[in-house]
Amino acid sequence: MPDVETYPPPPEFAARAHVGPGVREAADADPLGFWAEQAARLQWDRPWDTVHDDRDWPTARWFDGGRLNVAVNCLDRHLDAGRGGKVALHWEGEPGDRRTVTYAQLHEQVQRLANGLTELGVGPGDRVVLYLPVLVETVVATMACARIGAVVSLVFGGFSADALRFRVADTGATVVVASDGQFRRGAAVPVKAAVDEAVAGLDHVAHVLVVRRTGDDVPWTAGRDVWWDELLERQPAEHPAPSFPAEHPLFIVYTSGTTGRPKGLVHTSGGYLTQASWTHWALFDARDDDVYWCQADLAWVTAHTYVLYGPLSNGTTQVIYEGSPLTPHPGRHFEVIERYGVTTYYTAPTLVRTFMKHGPQLPAGYDLTSLRLLGSVGEAINPEAWRWLHEHVGGGRCPVVDTWWQSETGAAVVAPLPGQTPSKPGSATLALPGMAVAVVDEDGRETKPGVEGNLVITRPGPAMARTVWGDHDRFVRSYWAPYADRRWYLAGDSASRDEDGYVWIGGRIDDVLNVSGHRLSSIELESALVSHPRVAEAAVVGAPDDVTGQRIVAFVITRAGGDDDSGLAEELRAHVAARVGAVAKPREVVVVTDLPKTRSGKIMRRLVADMTAGRTGGDTTSLTDPASMGAVESAWTEHRRTSSGA
Ligand code: PRX
Repeated sequence: MPDVETYPPPPEFAARAHVGPGVREAADADPLGFWAEQAARLQWDRPWDTVHDDRDWPTARWFDGGRLNVAVNCLDRHLDAGRGGKVALHWEGEPGDRRTVTYAQLHEQVQRLANGLTELGVGPGDRVVLYLPVLVETVVATMACARIGAVVSLVFGGFSADALRFRVADTGATVVVASDGQFRRGAAVPVKAAVDEAVAGLDHVAHVLVVRRTGDDVPWTAGRDVWWDELLERQPAEHPAPSFPAEHPLFIVYTSGTTGRPKGLVHTSGGYLTQASWTHWALFDARDDDVYWCQADLAWVTAHTYVLYGPLSNGTTQVIYEGSPLTPHPGRHFEVIERYGVTTYYTAPTLVRTFMKHGPQLPAGYDLTSLRLLGSVGEAINPEAWRWLHEHVGGGRCPVVDTWWQSETGAAVVAPLPGQTPSKPGSATLALPGMAVAVVDEDGRETKPGVEGNLVITRPGPAMARTVWGDHDRFVRSYWAPYADRRWYLAGDSASRDEDGYVWIGGRIDDVLNVSGHRLSSIELESALVSHPRVAEAAVVGAPDDVTGQRIVAFVITRAGGDDDSGLAEELRAHVAARVGAVAKPREVVVVTDLPKTRSGKIMRRLVADMTAGRTGGDTTSLTDPASMGAVESAWTEHRRTSSGA
């Protein structure tokens, strides 16, 4: 908990902010009344009977009895209000191509695709997997699924065919939507062949719908594969939207847990949209003339809530950008902010630290005066990066909203209200209205100020996940069992609170890594490594990194048990990329002859992680062989010496 200065909300910002004084107190006094008021911001086809029902705890039901259509809330509503001509999306492709789409145009595309998906046999409750870059079509596809009540699951384009296959199989999807290829750091790379590999033999996949992006030739399976353009062309431009129950599933988002199997978190409609919509409006102080840009890839939960459902429900004009932030030059984001007059920029600490390496002259080369608010998500933002963002990007005048949340919570939980909450760089501040968190020890006692404990959500919001797809027990075990007597949700992060009650997030308490704001599971990466013929055992840890927060270091025992082989690291990196995806490649591979294990044979990753972070004095008493750490330490020292070129 660093000793930092406090930044009060800028007075001129506070004077006209959406959320004024007293909102948090009023919500604390009547949380359900607060959420009912926020749900009323949406358009319901049938009002709800109960705001919150926890008879099926830990699965909550919100706005039960109510019916709505999420896509109608994100599109039709704005057209009905005469705002069809307003720009919904300024899309910018990585090669520099651009497209501007109004709400009316987006609405028409969504209706055509809703009809098209129906033609392909997709109905309410069926699953559709999207494996697409950041394209207008990706937004159209999510909205079309919502319109017909299909459950969408977006898979990051940087994941491998294997990772895609797992998600397609786990959801039992009937349609996969993919592109012919995608642009990645200046190059067009093929995608369709990987999709074919991913769906091979999965009989539930009736169709692969293909969006043309790179224009390259693709392998084609007649009868199964369908071109997006051809499907849409033959559809009527109108689709009457049915309504669905508030608890109808909307999407499944996969995230890493503590086993090798990613968890598919299920989010539902009415409660999720209520919290997504209200938090977007409140945290980003969303205004009609804003040009809002959340730079996350659409497949991550951040963009589900703060590109797709939240901002569209508020009728916001957004920028979406397909490519890498550093292509073709490191100022690309600033160029985009200047071009569209972006007012609101929601980014990630790892990117801020990347920009910092280029120095303040990088943002200084652009006109960023349109900005009025900045946001951060994905990991704790270190105070230096917070100040740099505030000063060099925000010109010292923009509030910085550090939002703590998770795939599980569906929307922000701990964050400052920009016109209300004084910020302390590095702290996500306080729980938002209508929710409550605590920092507690194993017995559920609140820790004293400054003392680390487990972050728990004592009063979750309506966007909280309802279950893990196909594995409700895992949902109960992972999150709710540890504090079941109090019905608290265990977030998996350590944290402490200061004298003002501000929350300071520490690291994960489990074996989940956070690399550039992406969650990866140690065990999933270890399983990928040991599936390589040359690897006998592996321990994967996150070592501290100045730019990416953590970097992946893999300690491996080779089957030959032999010496380092200089080709091995590259081979294993490629192997992990093929099994999981390029995001999961270990930065460093260290060959060791032993790993610290408990008597039950469990690898003590914590000791290895402590070593890479330069922490000493970890408890080694439960090790089978206390000398094993010595072998790992000397291999690490040798590795550091050779890799630093000393
Ligand atoms: O460890 C916390 C970190 O990211 C985890 C959630 O990851 P994911 O489900 O992928 O969702 C990321 C985007 C919402 C959390 O358990 N995290 C996220 N935001 C913050 C954060 N840690 C500190 N401060 C944040 N603002």
